[in-house]
Order: sequence, then C-alpha cells, then structure tokens
Amino acid sequence: MKQSTASLPGLWVALAVVSSTSFAQTSVDFGRNEYMASCASCHGVSAKGDGAVRMYLTKAPTDLTIMAKRNGGVFPTQYAWEVIDGRTSVVIGAHGAREMPVWGYVYRAEDTQPADLHARNRISSLLDYLARIQVK
Ligand code: HEC
Repeated sequence: MKQSTASLPGLWVALAVVSSTSFAQTSVDFGRNEYMASCASCHGVSAKGDGAVRMYLTKAPTDLTIMAKRNGGVFPTQYAWEVIDGRTSVVIGAHGAREMPVWGYVYRAEDTQPADLHARNRISSLLDYLARIQVK
C-alpha cells in the first residue's frame, strides 16, 4: 500500500511528460487526412476536380477550391455540409440521392448512434479543410 502511494507522484510526472511531448509534436490535419481518404480519388489531391476516378464519371467532379469564389467570396458551409452528408444531392450526381449517396451514407449511418459526434467531427474537419484551400 505504502509503495503504491509513493509511486503515484512518479506516475503523474510520467503522464505530464507524455502529454507534453504529444502536444509538442506537429499537429495532425484531420480535415486534410479525411479529404485525402474520402474525396481525393474524384476531386483530386489538388481538389481541383482532377482525381484518378474522373475518367470513369459522366460528370466531372467539381473544383472544390473555387466554391467561395463562386459564392461571392464566402465559403458556402451549409451547402457543402448538406452535399457531404447526402441531404442535398448535386443533381443526383456522383454524391447520389439521399437513398444512394457516395459518402453521405457513411457519414449519416452513424447519425443515430453515439458516434453521431464522430460523424459531425469528420464533416466539420472536412469543411475546415475545404474552407482553407479556397482560392481568393
Ligand atoms: C465518386 C466520385 C466522388 C467522390 C468520392 C466525392 N465526390 Fe464530390 N462530387 C463529385 C462530382 C461528380 C460532383 C459534381 C456533381 C454534379 O455536379 O452533379 C461533386 C460535387 C461535390 C460538391 C458540390 C460542389 C459545388 O460547387 O456544387 C462538393 C461540396 C463535394 N463534391 C465535396 C466532396 C467531398 C468533401 C468529398 C469527400 C467526402 C467528395 N466530394 C467525394 C464526385 C465525387
């Protein structure tokens, strides 16, 4: 018993060291990671619509870097969110109708679960990334 109380401060020091080192590391860009994993195949690494899958699509993936430019200089957050979660299908295009979305299903499937927050975080980080790569 005595031994465990004595080691406790040591544990806190170790925890403090571990957590401070992880904060010191370069931060992970969740939005970029999510984009590269889920969107780049069509919209391209550059997000300009030049992804590898493009040649197999009847409609070209949109240049996602000019969304703000096309919307009076303001990134259309709500619209982008709805396209991603499948609520708004872009003319029943590649993102599909609500019943058959490409990624909407993935992001919405978790909507009724406690994982709802996780789905929202993924979409938020995506929107944050897209907003950051807008051309002026
Ligand atoms: C299967 C290919 C494909 C994938 C994967 C894909 N998209 Fe798309 N996306 C398209 C196509 C094609 C369009 C244009 C559809 C149309 O105009 O009917 C589009 C349109 C959009 C639009 C609407 C743009 C505008 O200006 O109206 C947004 C926003 C968008 N995609 C974001 C994303 C995001 C974020 C991801 C990743 C979660 C993603 N897309 C994954 C093919 C894809």
